[in-house]
This record gives sequence, C-alpha cells and structure tokens, in this order.
Amino acid sequence: PGGPDYQAEDATLSQASVASNHAGFTGSGFVDYVNTVGGYVEWTVTAATAGAHTLTFRYANGTTANRPLAVAVNGAAAVSRDFPGTGAWSTWADVSLTATLNAGANTVRATATAASGGPNLDRLTVGPASGGGSFVV
Ligand code: GCU
Repeated sequence: PGGPDYQAEDATLSQASVASNHAGFTGSGFVDYVNTVGGYVEWTVTAATAGAHTLTFRYANGTTANRPLAVAVNGAAAVSRDFPGTGAWSTWADVSLTATLNAGANTVRATATAASGGPNLDRLTVGPASGGGSFVV
C-alpha cells in the first residue's frame, strides 16, 4: 500500500511475544499472540494530516479458523476485522481498514477477541485513504 511501515515486533505488546520461527516476515520477526482473549499489539503511528487513512495489517494464520482482531484508534470504540486462514504460518496476507487519524501521533491497538488469540502479525502500514494520487501521511 505504500506508506510508512511499523513493525509489530517494535510495538507495545500484551499477552503476545516476538517470534521468528516462520519464514516470510519483514523486519526482524513477527508477533505471536498468546492463545487467549485480550492480548494486544499497540503501535504509535504518525500522520502528517488529520483525516481518513488506510491501516493495513500483514498477518499469517496457519489454521482454518478466523482469528478476529478488534482495532481501536486513539482509544476509541474498536472495529472488528476478520483474519481468516492464510494456508500456512509462513504465508502472509493483508487486511485493511479505513480509520480517521489525528495529525501527529496516534495509537492503533489490535486486540484478540477469540479464545484462540490473534493471528501472527508482521507489520502495520499507514497509507492514504484510497489508492492513487499523491501520497501524504
Ligand atoms: C503455532 C505457530 C505459532 C502460532 C500458534 C497459534 O504454534 O507455530 O506461530 O502463533 O500456532 O496457534 O497461535
């Protein structure tokens, strides 16, 4: 999606840990949620301008069951997104959503809501609200 990448392994983690035992991640590793409800990955991301942005999560889910995450920006009400199976823990895919960011620093927290925990998360990319045109984050 073209925008700043924020590695999951550099984020603030709760009930989740950094791992590197499945190939294909970017950066130095990925985050493996504990298999329980409530673990989270929280990034602080910077936007140059206030308004709608695209948040893209790169993940892997080697099971056949959905691993939904509740995504909250700046502590506001979370929106849920599905993270379905990708076929293997070493096969990575993207899930995107549109969120309103403030100019400057913003928190993005992705919390596991299923008993199986979240998917493995590689990174968050912050991009413009829709593809094309000039890129301003
Ligand atoms: C396996 C896999 C982990 C994954 C875990 C899970 O243990 O190796 O990377 O996080 O399953 O079910 O969450």
